[in-house]
Amino acid sequence: MALMDVLLDEMRDLYSAENQLVKALPKIAKGCQDSSLKSQIKNHLEETKNQVQRLREAFGHLGKKPTGQHCNGMEGVVEEGKDALEKDEEGANKDLCIIGASLRIEHYEVAGYTVAISLAKALKQADVVALLNENLQEELAAAKALQAASKPLLKEAASEKDASENEDEKKPKSAKEKQSEQESEEDEQEAAPELQAKTAPRAAKTSKKQ
Ligand SMILES: [Fe+2]
Repeated sequence: MALMDVLLDEMRDLYSAENQLVKALPKIAKGCQDSSLKSQIKNHLEETKNQVQRLREAFGHLGKKPTGQHCNGMEGVVEEGKDALEKDEEGANKDLCIIGASLRIEHYEVAGYTVAISLAKALKQADVVALLNENLQEELAAAKALQAASKPLLKEAASEKDASENEDEKKPKSAKEKQSEQESEEDEQEAAPELQAKTAPRAAKTSKKQ
């Protein structure tokens, strides 16, 4: 496989990822309770539409079509975003769940663009590098903004009384939650033989900052 094909694979993966986000971000924005977080995500939706255009332009420089590969990774992180929206949480807690899912999305994209840029650099595709880098900078800024948005929400959530402490009856788990619980137990069991062979790490010293 030629290096150019590796780059095209990465770029097609990103193109699919951005298109999936154009569809998913309006739903995520709709689920936000905090108005500034909502407008932040709406703003990133507009950026994402521009990112799709830049990717098309980059494919134009290479004389190739942008489609051809579905990004399974983005499908997975978007699915986690949907789980965050369905969580039985309210107010700041709900927004923090959405921020957690959105940060995963941004970091996934940051990884994709970082790899694609290094491949385009190796192939001396300066125009492609410049376009991909514009997208990368927007993803990095979006991730930073999400972290900044989480600060007041964390304060708010920490000061709220934990309603679940007094809840006599908890909502029964959905079929999806039960399946997730079972699969997480299987994850643990499958990792167990590898973990047994490893000696336990020494307990970390407690940081004074904590
Ligand atoms: Fe993006």
